[in-house]
Formats: sequence, C-alpha cells, structure tokens
Amino acid sequence: MKVFTGSDHGGFLLKQTLIKKLTELGHEVVDLGTDSQNSCDYPDFAHAVAEKILAEPGSMGLLTCGSGIGISIAANRHAGIRAALCHNSLEATLARQHNNANVLVMGGRLVGEALALDILEKFFSASFEGGRHQTRIEKIEIPCERL
Ligand code: RB5
Repeated sequence: MKVFTGSDHGGFLLKQTLIKKLTELGHEVVDLGTDSQNSCDYPDFAHAVAEKILAEPGSMGLLTCGSGIGISIAANRHAGIRAALCHNSLEATLARQHNNANVLVMGGRLVGEALALDILEKFFSASFEGGRHQTRIEKIEIPCERL
C-alpha cells in the first residue's frame, strides 16, 4: 500500500518512528514533511497529504501533530478524506472496519511509542466491512443542495 505521511513539529518524532514501521511492514511511504522539529503549521501538511490521497485512489495517509486534533480537523475538510484520530488499537480497527478511514492520525505528545506502533499495525491490517457501513459513509459528504 502507498502511504503518504505528514506532520508538524509536534508530531515529527513520532512520525519518524511510524515511517520506519510502515516500511518494515512493506508499505511504500512518501513523506511530505515536515523534516525537523522546527515550528511549522499543521494545516500545510494535512492539506498536502489529503490532496495526494485524493489524486491516487487506494492510497492512504498517516498524520501526526502534537495532539492529533488540529491536523485531523484540517484533513477532514477535504471531501473524500476520512481521517481518524486514534488513541487505542480498538479505535484503529473500528476506524477501518466501520468508517473506511483513509488517514490514521495520532498525537505525538499524547501517545507513547509502543502504543502508537500497535495502533499503526491494527489500522493498516484491518479491512473495511462494507454493507451498512458503506451506506453510512456515503451520507458523510454533504450534498450540494444542503450547502
Ligand atoms: C503545535 O504546538 C500544536 O498546537 C499542534 O501540534 C497540534 O497539537 C494542534 O492541534
């Protein structure tokens, strides 16, 4: 699987750890920055990752910032992006099985490394169940007439 990754400075160290794990698991990782712990703005990386995923159907994403909150809010502004902020492995599994999440988000200042690795593994090994969940996902995007 092709996985686009991005973070701000608050999520940089965790992202580096997770990129290593993704590569070990056999995924193709394309990192879109940031490249250091220097202060930067999380929406820049959320938008970059979201645009790449939408341009390459079937690809997925991994985003981290300090809390995971800002970067998930920004990513979810893109129609077709379902970014799931996860704090435990059950959330990660359910985000894939029920929500067909295409971006995993974690907070680098809130989730320890061992837990983050477990969350990552669960997210990228679970599959969407479809059926009633597909119907619900189709209702997430707001129809033009309601905008
Ligand atoms: C950066 O200090 C921090 O605000 C950011 O990483 C994130 O937590 C925002 O939601």
